[in-house]
Amino acid sequence: MKIYKAANYKEMSRKAANILSAQVIMKPNCVLGLATGSTPIGTYEQLVEWYRKGDLDFSEVTTVNLDEYKGLPVTNDQSYYYFMHQHLFDLVNINPVNTHLPNGMEADSEKECRRYEELIHSLGGVDLQLLGLGHNGHIGFNEPDEAFEKETHCVDLQERTIEANKRFFASADEVPRQAYTMGIKTIMHAKKILVIVSGEDKAEIVKKAFFGPVTPKVPASILQMHNDVTLVADEAALSEVIR
Ligand code: F6R
Repeated sequence: MKIYKAANYKEMSRKAANILSAQVIMKPNCVLGLATGSTPIGTYEQLVEWYRKGDLDFSEVTTVNLDEYKGLPVTNDQSYYYFMHQHLFDLVNINPVNTHLPNGMEADSEKECRRYEELIHSLGGVDLQLLGLGHNGHIGFNEPDEAFEKETHCVDLQERTIEANKRFFASADEVPRQAYTMGIKTIMHAKKILVIVSGEDKAEIVKKAFFGPVTPKVPASILQMHNDVTLVADEAALSEVIR
């Protein structure tokens, strides 16, 4: 695993954007696996800036996102579809037809998970997967104790997650109870993986995930078994492992 230490969130975002843009330049028709959450926002901002300067071209790029809430329409500002359009897709020259997320409005979970998994296969797999890291070591919506062998599947959100997310909705009742997510197996099939982490509150989980034992109790720890992982983290997130 390669580790890049960045001074702060801005530098982490810039380094991550560098790695993503190198991928796009080396293989203009690449498949990027993308993530939502607060961590990648700065990375997407940087990519948009470079696109506006004329340094990046997304016209041949295809994207597949990690996850999506089940039951939220794309018009809901908490859907990951909405997030991706707001932070990246609507701001660069990517062809919307080539941007993919699980369809949160498909009620038939088995059908949707099969469709998404087959889609990824039909694209030839993911060239570079961007990941954020949850405080409990989750990646995508793969929470502790999920089997490492899983492909795209539907998860019941933990009460803790519903509680944490309710601030974004009018009430706790409106928070989706389920989500579609790429499984650990899907993620591990990506040719390259880029993990971005920022903040002191993630320092402990960075240590557990990348320097502790590989265990389903810390889903991200499986990334230690992947042969091409780059961790870009700021000093605060690395404070428990690098001084
Ligand atoms: C988002 C995702 C999640 C986040 C994780 C970290 O698509 O799959 O696993 O990457 O929850 O979230 P932030 O970046 O908000 O700390």
